[in-house]
Amino acid sequence: MTDEVEGARQFRVDGPAYDRFMGRYSRPLARAFADFAGVAAGLDVLDVGCGTGALTGELVARVGPGGVRAVDPSEPFVTACSDRHPGVEVRLGRAEAIPFADGSVDRVLAQLVLHFVSDPSEVAREFVRVLRPHGVAAACVWDFARGMQMLRMFWDAALAVRPDAPDEARTRRFGGPGEIAALFDAAGFVEIEEAELAVESRYEDFDELWDGFLAGVGPAGAFCVSLGDDDRVAVRDELFSRLGEPTGSFALGAVVRAARGRRGGYS
Ligand SMILES: C[S@@+](CC[C@H](N)C(=O)[O-])C[C@H]1O[C@@H](n2cnc3c(N)ncnc32)[C@H](O)[C@@H]1O
Repeated sequence: MTDEVEGARQFRVDGPAYDRFMGRYSRPLARAFADFAGVAAGLDVLDVGCGTGALTGELVARVGPGGVRAVDPSEPFVTACSDRHPGVEVRLGRAEAIPFADGSVDRVLAQLVLHFVSDPSEVAREFVRVLRPHGVAAACVWDFARGMQMLRMFWDAALAVRPDAPDEARTRRFGGPGEIAALFDAAGFVEIEEAELAVESRYEDFDELWDGFLAGVGPAGAFCVSLGDDDRVAVRDELFSRLGEPTGSFALGAVVRAARGRRGGYS
């Protein structure tokens, strides 16, 4: 399905490459996000856009594999997630047409996914459909403009070299205040609440950070590998300079905008 879903094309990579680039942030984020969504033992939960399973693992730890379902349009990610989390029902599919039954879960979570979907309103309607009465939907997206240092610094370096670089702060939705909440409100969710969740990741050295971009993961990685050699070296040098030319290990912080909403009862 990867080739049919626009948002999944940039994730046609193997699980370890994704984990070195983004999983290093999404694993610690999963803990805070599952807390925010109120995931606790006894609930049935669905991980939409599960990727390699960073959030899926946190959900399994809380409710057991039998209580977790997951879906993603990227075939290598579905395989990686299934292999990592035996007993979890992982299906190939997209958020606009979730391949699970009406009223089948108590929580539906989408971590770092909404900004890739082609029809967010349809996705919110699908969240309503798969939830049981009074179930909770939660979604989060990086605050690209100021809260995700790794991507922000990459795009600033890229823009210095190539003013036409597709900075995700300009091209992506849902990273600003109130955006996910407005989507949930329009879909009829109630008791909507927002939060900012912060994580960080430590790199051994600059090469570890740069190698992540060279793996071609996500929009930043895809842009990086699309550059000619001269531009790519110039972006690397610009990023190195903007980071203060680190000689050893350093940490970068990241913040997501999260929102949750409760589904009403059946009318
Ligand atoms: C940044 S990754 C996040 C993966 C995982 N949730 C995590 O936190 O590590 C974005 C994911 O969204 C998936 N995706 C893209 N378009 C999608 C869509 N229309 N429906 C569901 N998932 C989608 C991609 O395949 C990818 O796995």
